[in-house]
Amino acid sequence: MRISPAAAGLLKERDSGTLCKHVRDIKTLWPPRCVEALCLLFTRHGDTALWLQRSEPMKFEKGRGVIARYRDFLPISDKGPVISLGEGDTPLIHCPELSKRIGRGCDVFVKNEGVNPTGSFKDRGMTVAVSKAIERCAHVLICASTGNTSASAAAYAAKAGISCAVILPAGKIASGKLLQAFAYGAKIIAVEANFDDALRIVRELGERGDFVIVNSINPDRIAGQKTAAFEIADEIGDAPDFHVLPVGNAGNITAYWAGYRGYHSQGRSRTLPVMLGFQAAGAAPIFHNRIIEQPETIASAIRIGNPASWKQARAAIGESRGAVDVVTDEEILAAQMWLARHEGIFVEPASAAAIAGLFKCCDENKAVYSFRKIPEGSRIVCTVTGHGLKDPDVIMERMRELKPVAANLDAVRRAIEL
Ligand SMILES: Cc1ncc(COP(=O)(O)O)c(C=O)c1O
Repeated sequence: MRISPAAAGLLKERDSGTLCKHVRDIKTLWPPRCVEALCLLFTRHGDTALWLQRSEPMKFEKGRGVIARYRDFLPISDKGPVISLGEGDTPLIHCPELSKRIGRGCDVFVKNEGVNPTGSFKDRGMTVAVSKAIERCAHVLICASTGNTSASAAAYAAKAGISCAVILPAGKIASGKLLQAFAYGAKIIAVEANFDDALRIVRELGERGDFVIVNSINPDRIAGQKTAAFEIADEIGDAPDFHVLPVGNAGNITAYWAGYRGYHSQGRSRTLPVMLGFQAAGAAPIFHNRIIEQPETIASAIRIGNPASWKQARAAIGESRGAVDVVTDEEILAAQMWLARHEGIFVEPASAAAIAGLFKCCDENKAVYSFRKIPEGSRIVCTVTGHGLKDPDVIMERMRELKPVAANLDAVRRAIEL
């Protein structure tokens, strides 16, 4: 197609160029567009349609995801493949109502990991673990899971175009998480066992070399999860004074502490936080310092009796002069509701263990670590690890049955009861 001098004169200089190599026959496309690369600019002059290549091809946003942001801190080379769903960069929400409960002019922030692509913090580690697996030409991922790891592994395997097998304790997975693994196309195997047995099986299968394990025993998972600590330090300008989080297999507390330490040693932050981990009372091996053979709690994500990163969690708590403590199921459920209704953040029960823990720290008589005498104006970050919609059954049980009312104003006003 020829561009007339008159038409060319109407175009800005930066737009002048050659025909797009992707489109050979302009008559076949109307309205005009380049379906392959979206790199065309269209303009019209009289009856003449002009297809011009932009001097700069249209750029797609490639910068999202924890690898894009923190590659220098991760075991990913410049040329390594990146499998990302845009994870990370989660909101650090200032919570006035929570801050009031603590008092002493403290500021409480919630790091809401439930807004990651599959609804939990696992995505931060999974993008790194799966990218590395692809670099090593892996074909099948495998993991044991209390639910969230399986959802995340399945999603990233789908994105990478490889298979994923998830080994789950039968009947012990929150329905939303199971649905996710199914929807993303994972091979789901339910075993008559708890999580700890499932992980033992996965370790043995991994040793045979047919599978890449993407549980947090894979160091790439921990490396990726460190990025949450980087984000917090970047956002508040330093590490917080206290970091509160739930503990199950103990990979996350290990990752946060490694992240804070890494940033500190590179001069990116001046301080280190006190790490406070909370386990469910019926599944608290680190707190009791013994394996729990039959762990039980409503918070299925942390129903773990023999954590893989036990030693590392102890080190994080010891080195940071922190503590591990327990919260009951009742305290967890109350905290879940409180957070939803006072701060508008709906989390799954395991995540609410962090909030229940925060409340416990306000009670001098009950807490292993009391907030009664912490420095005024302390900054406290609580990580909430997974979205509330993942475990709808827990809430459903507490919801009153909805009874329909007549479709008139009086009946509806009476039902509103305000
Ligand atoms: C929602 C949620 N919170 C907390 C945890 C505990 O994390 P970790 O096992 O790394 O201690 C998990 C682990 O599965 C989880 O899914």
